[in-house]
Parts: sequence; C-alpha cells; structure tokens
Amino acid sequence: MINNDIINEIRNKSDIISVISNYVPLTKRGKNYFGVCPFHDDHSPSMSVSPEKQIYTCFSCGATGNVFTFVSEYEHISFIEAVKLLGNKLGYNLTTNEKVDTRSVDYKIYEIASKFYQNNLNSSLGKNAIEYLEKRGLSREIVKKFGIGLSLNKSTLTNLLINKGIKLDKLIELGLSNTLSNDLFLNRIMFPLFDLSGNVVAFSGRIYNMKDSSKYINTKETPIFKKGNLLYNYHNAREHLKKNDYVIIMEGFMDVIRASTVGINNCVATMGTAFTKEQATIVRKMTDNVILCFDGDKAGEDATISAINVLEAIGINPKIIRLENDLDPDEYIIKNGKEAFVSKIEKAINVVEYKLELLKKNKNFNNLEDISNYIDNSIRELTKVNDEILVELTLKKLSIEYNIDYELLKKKYETYNNKDDKKEIKVVKINKKGLTVYEKAERSLIYYMLKSDDVVKQVENNISYFPTMEIRFLSNEIICFYHKYGKIDVADFISFISSKEELLKVLYEILNMNLKDEYTNLEIEDYITVIKKYFKKSKISKLEKSLKEENDPLKQAEILSEIMAVKGVK
Ligand code: CTP
Ligand code: MN
Repeated sequence: MINNDIINEIRNKSDIISVISNYVPLTKRGKNYFGVCPFHDDHSPSMSVSPEKQIYTCFSCGATGNVFTFVSEYEHISFIEAVKLLGNKLGYNLTTNEKVDTRSVDYKIYEIASKFYQNNLNSSLGKNAIEYLEKRGLSREIVKKFGIGLSLNKSTLTNLLINKGIKLDKLIELGLSNTLSNDLFLNRIMFPLFDLSGNVVAFSGRIYNMKDSSKYINTKETPIFKKGNLLYNYHNAREHLKKNDYVIIMEGFMDVIRASTVGINNCVATMGTAFTKEQATIVRKMTDNVILCFDGDKAGEDATISAINVLEAIGINPKIIRLENDLDPDEYIIKNGKEAFVSKIEKAINVVEYKLELLKKNKNFNNLEDISNYIDNSIRELTKVNDEILVELTLKKLSIEYNIDYELLKKKYETYNNKDDKKEIKVVKINKKGLTVYEKAERSLIYYMLKSDDVVKQVENNISYFPTMEIRFLSNEIICFYHKYGKIDVADFISFISSKEELLKVLYEILNMNLKDEYTNLEIEDYITVIKKYFKKSKISKLEKSLKEENDPLKQAEILSEIMAVKGVK
C-alpha cells in the first residue's frame, strides 16, 4: 500500500494537463483545456480539463476524475498501478510490490498456456476440433478473437512449462497440473477466461469428441481467478459501450461468442453461476443500462429473478429479454438470425412488466376469478414500485387490458399501499433525473463542500446526519479529509476515497450535475434547512403513526404535544 501523503505528493507533482496531453491533444479555451474524450466514441472535444481543480470532466459521457483515474481508465490498470506509473516517472521507486510481481508471473504462465492451446488447433491433432468449431459456425476469426484453443493428452502443457523453468507447485497452485505432473485439461476445446483487464486467468474446457459426465470443466479458484468476481468478455464489451450504451448479461460464454459472430459485441456472461453482488458492481461501472438475457428455460427464469434482486439492490433497474422454447441466446440466434435477436433487444421489458408477466403463469384468463386474482396480485406487486409514474401507467394499462374502471384499480392500489408503511414520507420528484428535493439538497451540499472549507464547517456544525446513506458516508469522508489535511481539494479527495467504489460513483454523479460554480451563503443555508426539514417531517410522520395506533387518551395527549414541539408550536 502506498501512503496517502505520497499519493497526494505524486498527484501534486503530476500536472493533469501535461499527463492527459500525452494521451489526448488538448487546446486551451478560457481557463480550461478541451479535448476529445477517450472514454466514449466521439469526435468533438467534449472533455474539459481544469488546471485549477486538477480534474477532468466529459460533458457527454460523464467520465470524470483526477489524474490517477484518467491513467487508470485509459490504461485499464488499477488506481494504485496508475499512482505507481506516474510516481515512477517522477523518480519514485514504487514497483517493489511483491504481490504484483508474483501475479505478473502468473499472467505470463497463463499467456503461454493460452498460446499453446491455440497453436494446437493448427497442428495435425487439431483436425477434429477444427471440424467441431466449424460445425458450430465459429469462424477462424472468431476463434482467434476469443483465443479458443485445444488441450491435448497427458502432460504436454505441464512439460512445456516445466521446461521453461516453472515449478510444478506453481502449476498446481494455478490449476493447470496435478501432483502427478499431468495436465488437468485433456482433450477439450479450451476457452480462455479473462480478468477485467483482459489477462487470461483461467480456462473452461469443453468436450467435443468424447463422452464425459461434465460438458465443461473450469479452472478451480486460484489467487488470480475468482469466478464470481469477473464477467466473461468484460474487457471487450466495455470498449463497445462507447457506441451502444447498454450491456447484455447472458449465462454462457458460448452465448456471448455467438452474439459476437453477428456483430453484437456488448455482451458479458456470468458463466453459469448465480449473478453476484461483485458482478453487479462491475456492470455498474460499465453503464446503468443493463439487459438480462438468460436461457429460456426454468433455470434461466430463476436466474433472471435473482439477478434482478441483486441489481436493484445497487440501484440498477435492468430490462429483461426472455427467450421462448427453452432456447439459450446461442441457439436463438442460430435458429432465428440476427434481426430477430435485435428485435428482442429493442422489445426488452422492464422489471414490472416482467413480474406481471410471471404472475400470469398458470392462470386461465377465461376464468373471471383467475383474472381477478391476477389483477389483485399485480396491484400488490405495484406497491413495491417506487416510481409513481410507472405505477400510474401500469394501472392504466391494466384498466384498458381487462376493461376495469381505472378509479377502482387506483383505490385498491392505495389501500394496499397505505398498509405498506415502508414509505414514511411521500417522495416529491422534482427533476427528470428523479432526484427528490432532499436528494438535490444533499448533493448540492456535497458539491459545495468540495469547493469551500467554509461549507464543510457549516455542514459539520449544522447537519449531524444526511438522510441518504452514501451521502452520509461521503460527507463523513470529506470532513475527515478536511481535518486531516486542513483544506479541501477535490483532486486529492478523489485519491483519498479511491478504494471506495460506491462512494466514488456517487461523487462522480455529483460532479456531473452541472451545478454552477458560484454559490451564495443563502443558498447553502437553504439546502441545510431542506435537510433539517426532512428529519422534522419524518419524525412527525412517525409520531402521527403512533398517535393513530394509541388508544389511551393520556398517552395520545403526550404524543400530540411531542408533535407540536417538533413542529415548533408550543
Ligand atoms: N458451465 C460450467 N460447467 C458446466 C456447465 C456449464 O461451468 N458443467 C458454465 C459455463 O461457463 C457455461 C455456462 O455455465 O458457459 C452456461 O452453461 P450451459 O448453458 O450449459 O452452456 P452453453 O452456453 O449452452 O454451452 P454449449 O452451447 O457449448 O453447450
Ligand atoms: Mn448452448
């Protein structure tokens, strides 16, 4: 780990203008510099770099950060690696990190293994395998693109690597050989699995010319391979998001490869395991526009539902594609062609539509009781939805589809919804980004805290607690940073929280809100009042609730006077 003071020192010495100029030509306009943003497909200079704040912001795709995040994103390396890279250019000696060094040996070994497997396809032993790949409609070009290869018999790979001076223990640790010096992958079509930076870190081997109980075998978990922490094809897909800003999540890597054969390249695969929180976080780094396209069978349906939950928990509302006849995307594309699949993508439905679709199962829509049952369940489902407009639209749709008075449906919705005490405060949507007044106030305060020491002090003295969790954490970090360094600096603050992805994401959103740089004291006080009001309101609504539930007149009077006190009426 590199000490934070050193990180700030390196950042101060690495002028963001000259570093970014090494990658992208910049021109000065006013007090800022402008260039073509390398993080999305563009030709106009939409990225601005501020020498004063030492941060960059793209007005088009929203990419933002400090000099380290720029290098890290551009070079596809971690934040710390970016610090090292820039530090070493300045004469620091930051490379002697053992962990990184052993890892690069591991990557090298996997690179050799992968080349070896790929070459085997071209040898005389590769004939059947090539035939198999051709039969599956995988061209030479695709085979090369995904690094597909072939494993041979007994110990060919192990021998090769041992002859290169690599110890057997290492090969066992990396899941390539067993203790008898034999290869672990025998006679299988080899699919390399890549980590997020595109290094080969594991293999999945498929049978092709023999019977075996397992269709695929995978490398076990190793220090460089944790299946739940990566997504197949991530490193390729993220490049394509610059053109199409959405990602399609599939189950199998064959599905992803098939989509690529028809020119759809923004797909990733979970590789058959349950979609994890880590994978969701990786996806969120790519885009907020996510489409789930799992296999058409029952297992795919279950996987879809659980992935929806994982994604919703981190604030992503995915869209859903369901394929009929138990087909997987690979089979669907082969059977119906690219256009049919593209139309599936265009018609992807939202989570509510999908859940209502599921409720239709096993219902007979000629039976009035079944219809009533379906509508009732649908309305209950709708009470879980936070988007009022979506609720309204869905109620209208149900009303038209089943010819039921809209007011009746609405009334029923309200009855169910009021029983639901999850919403203490009615949320007021104020802009198209869906921020409430409270959220807007919270975010504005964070924005100005990062501009001025005075605002930090004001917040510290007046707000003990922000309503939204991430904002609360962010504000704590800012205050902590301020006390540690005695002043506020956005660029250094970005380094300060660089290991906290969730917070960085919110911070970037806030930096991208296009708030004006000037502010008045009055505005800051206004924002603080809004936050205070929020707490007042939520306290009152809690008290009012307990008032309703209380029968003892004496206690009722007590609660009432407490309400008055909070309201400030004495
Ligand atoms: N998988 C696995 N082990 C298995 C079966 C599947 O690891 N025994 C993983 C693989 O990563 C595979 C994914 O789960 O990509 C999806 O499995 P499946 O749908 O069975 O594979 P397909 O994508 O249909 O592969 P193919 O078309 O080659 O049969
Ligand atoms: Mn398949």
